[in-house]
Amino acid sequence: MKDFPLFPEAASTIANSVDNVYFLLLTVSAFFSILIFSLIFYFAIRYRRRRPDEIPTPILGSLRLELFWSVTPGIIALSIFAWGTTIYFRNADPPPGAMEIFVVGKQWMWKLQHPEGQREINELHVPVGQPVKLTMASEDVIHSFYVPAFRVKMDVIPGRYTSLWFEPTKPGKYHLFCAEYCGTQHSGMGGWVYVMEPVDYENWLSGAATGETMAEAGEKLFGRLGCQTCHRSDRPGRGPVLEGLFGTPVQLQTGEKVIADEAYIRESILQPAARLVAGYRTQMPTFQGQITEEGLLQIIAYIKSLAPAERVDAEQ
Ligand code: CUA
Repeated sequence: MKDFPLFPEAASTIANSVDNVYFLLLTVSAFFSILIFSLIFYFAIRYRRRRPDEIPTPILGSLRLELFWSVTPGIIALSIFAWGTTIYFRNADPPPGAMEIFVVGKQWMWKLQHPEGQREINELHVPVGQPVKLTMASEDVIHSFYVPAFRVKMDVIPGRYTSLWFEPTKPGKYHLFCAEYCGTQHSGMGGWVYVMEPVDYENWLSGAATGETMAEAGEKLFGRLGCQTCHRSDRPGRGPVLEGLFGTPVQLQTGEKVIADEAYIRESILQPAARLVAGYRTQMPTFQGQITEEGLLQIIAYIKSLAPAERVDAEQ
């Protein structure tokens, strides 16, 4: 029972806002349920048929009453909508500078990796007071990453990236669940999020060091798959230059423009012809089946780390 309290702890910056909306909904529902049921009983007794031949007075309606009971719930519903939407948007948009962690869900475990290279299974260590953004993919079926104490939940879907962010406010150990039925061991697909003081986190991070960051692992994979034969850094080869590409707009053959984000890069590796860059031909083979979701995330981390020469100078 201790692990499943009636109400989970509120341990993130968004938790109290989510709870407030929840309590408002609960109060509004309780108020109207009590009001409606009381009136049903009261009217049933007050206006019961008293004589077998009794005929009630016909009532043709009341415009004022009808307006009142249409407009009032309308205003209440729209206020709840506006309030909920504000929180939804806040929750959907990670603040700039959030620490990024990569998550792969598979039957039946969570594999997590920090950009510095540390890997975890069914455990996530994060510092307190720091926004954390998770970029998530699934290796098989739909899972859902759920941390009740943070009031955040997001589906993890095969074939695309979803993301979720939170900012923990209290050090501690919080339950992590899979919240989407994903097979026989679904109920066991959980773990813990450890929220640590920044110093403890730094210690943990160095203690768990692997000697290889995600970008470095991505670079190795990039070499192993032979990507550098076409994607050259010195000049455009058979494939576009990848330095400084991440997050910038790309002109497609169709005339359309897309931002080179995680989803676009993932798609371009698995289905190169799907959204081809203007000026290139469909020569690149697909890497579908040759690379895992974790490998894709590592290559993306590598491409992210490739700043164009001028930008590196400007930053230094
Ligand atoms: Cu994964 Cu349920």
